[in-house]
Amino acid sequence: MTSTDVRPQTAAGLTFPPGFVFGAATAAYQIEGAVDVDGRGPSIWDTFSHTPGKTFQGDTGDVAVEHYVRYPQDVALMKDLGLDAYRFSVSWPRVLPAGAGAIEQRGLDFYRRLVDELLGAGIAPWLTLYHWDLPQALQDQGGWTDRDTAYRFAEYAGVVYDALGDRVPHWSTLNEPMCSSLLGYMAGQHAPGHQDPVEASRAVHHLLLGHGLATQVMRDKGADHLGITLNFTPMSPATDSPADVDAARRLDGQQNRMFLVPIATGEYPADVVADLADAGAPLPIEDGDLEVISAPLDWLGVNYYFESTVRGLSEPSGKHPTFIGAERVQDLEPEGPTTTMGWGISPEAFTALLTRISGIAPGLPLFITENGSAWPDEVSADGQVHDPERVDYLLRHLAAMTEAIDAGADVRGYFAWSLLDNYEWARGYAQRFGLVHVDYATQVRTPKDSAGTYADVIRSAKDGV
Ligand code: FCB
Repeated sequence: MTSTDVRPQTAAGLTFPPGFVFGAATAAYQIEGAVDVDGRGPSIWDTFSHTPGKTFQGDTGDVAVEHYVRYPQDVALMKDLGLDAYRFSVSWPRVLPAGAGAIEQRGLDFYRRLVDELLGAGIAPWLTLYHWDLPQALQDQGGWTDRDTAYRFAEYAGVVYDALGDRVPHWSTLNEPMCSSLLGYMAGQHAPGHQDPVEASRAVHHLLLGHGLATQVMRDKGADHLGITLNFTPMSPATDSPADVDAARRLDGQQNRMFLVPIATGEYPADVVADLADAGAPLPIEDGDLEVISAPLDWLGVNYYFESTVRGLSEPSGKHPTFIGAERVQDLEPEGPTTTMGWGISPEAFTALLTRISGIAPGLPLFITENGSAWPDEVSADGQVHDPERVDYLLRHLAAMTEAIDAGADVRGYFAWSLLDNYEWARGYAQRFGLVHVDYATQVRTPKDSAGTYADVIRSAKDGV
């Protein structure tokens, strides 16, 4: 199938609610580069990516896609796509190089320029305060394992809000606290690269506490469109055996419920609390924390890529687990085609997930803040980038989302991951998620076929076709 087979038919076939927001997303460390200019301090990702053996081919975000200087061109690309909105993150160590204390105005000025450029192009800025780049100075004091980091995060939120609150309407505290805590402190695949269940459990709770404290700070300053972005991976048992069902329950608990449920209801799920305590890694909850964590929000960001099937084992697998107390759980290889990340493709699970989230957090408007796929894209002889697999993935997931909307899920927007090819964390530059191709040698941007498809969808949605 080629992209031209798919495009006309489906752009016209999808219908979206009035006012539906179409956007694309990025994150600071993945695109900005310029890690040592304008007073920026080091982050845990600078340290981690420069540690031998931690990232694919030793790739770092030192240069990335030079968005720090090329942002006007990137905003122009967004305008060409017809985007309503752009989701980006602020680099904490650009604004507070030591994590707390002295404010670096030159760092804030970059975001002021970016926001002005967006507003000038008629694109709404959606700002995420934390997309994983903790100032190294705070990591040196324990990072998210230290309760104080939650308070430092709230102070940082206040600083950024004071600078940009008048011009940025949409605010998000954290991106995927599951990854910051479990991938960073338990699996060790992400910065700071630790493998310690006690640290991971502490990080979970302090990230959520930081979210709640930052929400309070921004609310007090007048913020009226505040949210958080969580990542969800539906977990199915391989069979209905009790061991498989329990394995799926445990992973679903830590991946999907441990973050959403306390935010939505003010309580952690009891089975998750018990799993973590049994593993010797209890959540370090103090009186009043859950009230802070469950401060009312205006929207929830949902990131979705793939689903997992898991099996319960009678003996430990011998592999270091990503989840706490999950030594006897095996994540099965996906069936069917996979992206270059090795992720399966399951739009049906996306529909079911959105319906499920709506049930857990009724009344909370949802925005898909990330969804996308990585493929081995190349510039062809005709100068174009033909990415039929991404076109297919995009259209099938948009269709799956609209099915959930038709079934009652209050989904109000979709942000494609990602606007540009970029630094895919530990997987380096080998994984290309962009709607726009970037030649890393020349920094030349080339919109892929999928960018054209997305632009067609957006245009046809607006025209009511
Ligand atoms: C998400 C991250 C994002 C990107 C995509 C592929 O987990 O939030 O930065 O890496 O995965």
